[in-house]
Amino acid sequence: MHKLLRPCWRNLHFHRRNAANLRLAEQQQRWSSTQEMRTLEDVIADRRQQANRSIVVQVNSERSFSELFTYCQQFGEIEGCHHYKLSHDELHYILVEFQTESSAEAAMSSSCFNEDLSGVPIRSPFLWFRAGKKKGSPAKSASPKTSLSSLDGIHTIPNNELDDLLMASQDVEGQMQTLHRSTVLNDLGTRLRFLAARQVESTIAGMFPNANALPFGSSVNGFGRMGCDLDLILRFDKDSHLGCKSIDSRLVFHTKETLSNGRSQMQRQMECIGDLLHLFLPGVYHVRRILQARVPIIKFHHEHLDLEVDLSMSNLTGVYMSELLYMFGQIDDRVRPLTFCLRRWAQTCGLTNPSPGRWITNFSLTCLVIFYLQQLKEPILPPISLFVKSAKSNDLRVTEDGINCSFLRDVRNLPFKTENKSSLTELLLQFFEFYSQFDFNNRAISLNEARNIVKPDHSAMYIINPLEQHLNVSKNISLEECERFRIEVRNAAWILESDMERNTSNESREEPWGLLNLFRTPEKTIIRPNMFFKPRLVEVSELFDDSSADGEHRNLEFKNSTV
Ligand code: CTP
Ligand code: MG
Repeated sequence: MHKLLRPCWRNLHFHRRNAANLRLAEQQQRWSSTQEMRTLEDVIADRRQQANRSIVVQVNSERSFSELFTYCQQFGEIEGCHHYKLSHDELHYILVEFQTESSAEAAMSSSCFNEDLSGVPIRSPFLWFRAGKKKGSPAKSASPKTSLSSLDGIHTIPNNELDDLLMASQDVEGQMQTLHRSTVLNDLGTRLRFLAARQVESTIAGMFPNANALPFGSSVNGFGRMGCDLDLILRFDKDSHLGCKSIDSRLVFHTKETLSNGRSQMQRQMECIGDLLHLFLPGVYHVRRILQARVPIIKFHHEHLDLEVDLSMSNLTGVYMSELLYMFGQIDDRVRPLTFCLRRWAQTCGLTNPSPGRWITNFSLTCLVIFYLQQLKEPILPPISLFVKSAKSNDLRVTEDGINCSFLRDVRNLPFKTENKSSLTELLLQFFEFYSQFDFNNRAISLNEARNIVKPDHSAMYIINPLEQHLNVSKNISLEECERFRIEVRNAAWILESDMERNTSNESREEPWGLLNLFRTPEKTIIRPNMFFKPRLVEVSELFDDSSADGEHRNLEFKNSTV
């Protein structure tokens, strides 16, 4: 057993799931605390390198591990292995991380294509481990200790397990911390999202050697939960994503302009990229082109990762916005648990919806949380203008549309400290009270200035986009949904307050309490305003079932798509 393999290859048999969940949370917390004060750009750079050193191999079951491990050692030292399973069709995968990129490259170079393949063969980091040719008795494979395995996994914790954990918490504050720890996107989820980005990037690298697929949004900003979508921006000039274009050169590339209107050209090119992904990328299915949106996107499903991906080519401010959100999460450790709690509350009472429409989005909701924390008498978060004022020369970023996104990136240099000592429970309750009284009819929210201003138009809810200040982040929200938000925050304040009055003593609780009542609002409360809105709670099936061992010898083979 390689010594470096140990940390991420534990607990093969995942029977005592609650205990394992807690351990997973601790592991996750250890990982995130080491990352805590680094800039998002540095974290992303590391994650990209990690993806370049990794491959994902489909296997029969987690018991193929020792064989795969032995097989892969011929390509170089292995840093770690992570197992996951797609529960809907019992497919098992092992992510193998080598110590060097050249080892991962060697593994891919040695891999072959399926003999029955009739289309164009495509190399990618997604492989499968086929049965090896049997020569008499099977070759010995190094036997890693059976007690060691992965407790990662890529699935959302099932609701009943989360309920048990919340039920067993000490108080509402404890429930909020538990909710955060057990639903936050884990290390493996992040690794896989960067591998999906790498696959897109490397597939089109032949024609576009400078192509750069960059994850942003909740996959990287610290507010992502297990199962969140992957927002990906595809850039074609490696340097320009950091806003440092070489303006000195007198030699300029000829580029092709086939359509007079830049937006039409971009839509047409995205259509073509969508076709490329659809036709050539193993694992990519159900490609949808949403090209009329303000930011045109291509949506697809990655079947080896069970992941929804939104790919855009023109939303650089979204990437910079992710940096701001990431830093808000870094500034105070109450921000993320509070936001996770409010996102879940909004999901369970049907305020947010997986399909886009007139509903409040997680992003808008996060902006509301940030604003609430900025405007407190003793603010917990600073206005964005402070990041802008504190920017250093290496923070200069301007998008190709001329949008200035220069602001301080290293949160350690921000001249801000809070004296606010409120507990998470107090903050949660005050959030509900604050928005139940907020004058959405007349006022707009400015995160840049940490204050509300006169609403510039008649949108139901107006949150000024911090980086494109002429835009409203919550423009999509209808009057009815805004009203519903106001009613739901009022209900939530009422439920939480009455619950806290009932549960002042620490006696053993039999009935659901605290967040469990808050998250079940539609069934529980008589003051529920809209009887036709049902909560959308997703049940996820069992994690880590044991499967039968397979003793055959295998070789690596590229996974290729059938379209
Ligand atoms: N974004 C933005 N302006 C908007 C909408 C989105 O700048 N009007 C940026 C934000 O950085 C956001 C990212 O695009 O985080 C991705 O948007 P979205 O997927 O809607 O939100 P997420 O934060 O990723 O949340 P979720 O987990 O719901 O996907
Ligand atoms: Mg997203």
